[in-house]
Amino acid sequence: MCGIVGYVGPDTGARPLDVVMEGLARLEYRGYDSAGVALVAGDKVFTQKRAGKLENLRSALEGESVPAAATAIGHTRWATHGGPTDENAHPHRGGRDGKLAVVHNGIVENFHALKQELLAQGVEFTSETDTEVAAQLLAAAFDESGDLTEAMRSVVNRLEGAFTLLAVHADAPDTVVAARRNSPLVVGLGEGENFLGSDVAAFIGYTKQAVELDQDQIVTITPSSHTVMNFDGTPAEGKPYEVTWDAAAAEKGGYDTFMEKEINDQPHAVGDTLLGRTDAEGRLVLDELRIDEDKLKQVDRITIVACGTAAYAGMVAKYAIEHWTRIPVEVSLAHEFRYCDPIVSERTLVVSISQSGETADTAMAVRHARSLGALTVSVCNTHGATIPRESDAVLYTHAGPEIAVASTKAFLAQITACYVLGLYLAQLRGQTYADDAKAVMAELHEVPAKIEALLGTMGRVEEIARFMADTRSVLFLGRNVGYPIAMEGALKLKELAYIHAEGFAAGELKHGPIALIEPGQPVFIVVPGPDTPNDLHKKVVSNIQEIRARGARTLVIAQEGDDEVLPFADEVIRVPHTSPLLQPLLTVVPLQVFALHLSTAKGLDVDQPRNLAKSVTVE
Ligand code: F6R
Repeated sequence: MCGIVGYVGPDTGARPLDVVMEGLARLEYRGYDSAGVALVAGDKVFTQKRAGKLENLRSALEGESVPAAATAIGHTRWATHGGPTDENAHPHRGGRDGKLAVVHNGIVENFHALKQELLAQGVEFTSETDTEVAAQLLAAAFDESGDLTEAMRSVVNRLEGAFTLLAVHADAPDTVVAARRNSPLVVGLGEGENFLGSDVAAFIGYTKQAVELDQDQIVTITPSSHTVMNFDGTPAEGKPYEVTWDAAAAEKGGYDTFMEKEINDQPHAVGDTLLGRTDAEGRLVLDELRIDEDKLKQVDRITIVACGTAAYAGMVAKYAIEHWTRIPVEVSLAHEFRYCDPIVSERTLVVSISQSGETADTAMAVRHARSLGALTVSVCNTHGATIPRESDAVLYTHAGPEIAVASTKAFLAQITACYVLGLYLAQLRGQTYADDAKAVMAELHEVPAKIEALLGTMGRVEEIARFMADTRSVLFLGRNVGYPIAMEGALKLKELAYIHAEGFAAGELKHGPIALIEPGQPVFIVVPGPDTPNDLHKKVVSNIQEIRARGARTLVIAQEGDDEVLPFADEVIRVPHTSPLLQPLLTVVPLQVFALHLSTAKGLDVDQPRNLAKSVTVE
């Protein structure tokens, strides 16, 4: 939610602007309502900004003589306060002389009171944003101290809410000062140049050496140094680390869209998430968890907190973890958990799931759980992000960077990591379960090849999607682990193709939603394998008959060799065989491919659907 980039180097040529524009292109997934840059040139700050996608900014810059500069900041916006207009685009200037420029990610919650104070002093505002308030405060503080770091320190202590702020000033030409509270910020270390970004993608083309910052810290970068301090002015150190992926992983690699690439990355996302988590005997080894085994053995309740697609991964995990461990698992939308007076004790394990690790709703839920004494584990795809940093332990997914706004490979990696966690807990709880764990892990290792094979058979799904470009409503049904997959299929379609779509538990149909079925209504049904316990397969086949009898067009996702569905299916989409609890790793793939191609057939922007942002850092 908003992407920010900062650069300072020795060169006053084209490099600073190039670095920032490249960083913004890589961060555009975080918001694309507007984009802007500020360059410190001589004793002036030059800014350019435009509503709409980065392309608009690029065109505006082409028609202009951009001054040479060694210091630059940039922003790509997901609008919160103030609509997506040129005026509300960042950077915002501060001071009567406009010598200061600021970009901001987050929300300054007390901006209204601060703005009234500034208005009373005669300060004039040109935008409706909370950010301009911070810019004006910073300019005034700089006028007093003549020091940009000191100005930042005095201002952040007056701000409430969530923010990453980057500031430059014409009178501090080789410096960018940044501050973070509840919003992401990383430092990139180059040779004689330094970088700032919302995430490492901002500068991955230039350096893999990064520094993680803590909550409530300020960092000042110059071409040759980075200096960290806490908001109270005490010196601090960031945590250096090396990024394990390169620029190519954040590029499209020959595909038309990031989403298509990421769907095709899924065998690796699952395989890499399994990597290194078993010993030579096939037993799970999760040293990285760094939680006392005795504490984990005592866990008597698990609560999963997450939002959106990540919450559906949590719902899949619930079925599996309860089955393997017999520990009760509940799944709570993070924003509901935070404000619902949850029942949590020191024997409760709260597992958060988040691709970005920055989702504010999930971060708040984790903080709340910790304050209530729970053990917290983060399942996360982003090294050093807020949620893993604030949890007792982290189990990283290894999906690589996910750029398309709609989540695909991160979802499969999240499910995989939750399986690993569930099997590990089962193994800790006794020998019988440990034997099961080995068998399931062995089967999980076969899944990447099955996804690969499945991806090779998606031609018909693509055709169906093209034929359905004018469809106005699609329903999705599933039972057991197929139920969250039905909801995920519906979510993908809503966000990518802007079509009414709903996912239901198939058994719930007769309790109301069956009234929606009219002749021609397309319905996807995720069918469990015939070997699923409790005759679930037969029950779902009956559900298909019930809707077919009422005229539904049935699009059936069924295992290879399952012929019982044939008489009731208008289309059958086959997935390879795997044991019932692992099926989501396969059954969701055709639904992702369907949404991708329907969106493409409608001529929509697959990677950046309207109104969305990749990482939702406001509550
Ligand atoms: C949907 C999607 C979102 C995210 C949700 C949580 O395709 O991507 O629903 O899953 O916003 O995001 P993370 O996982 O970053 O916490």
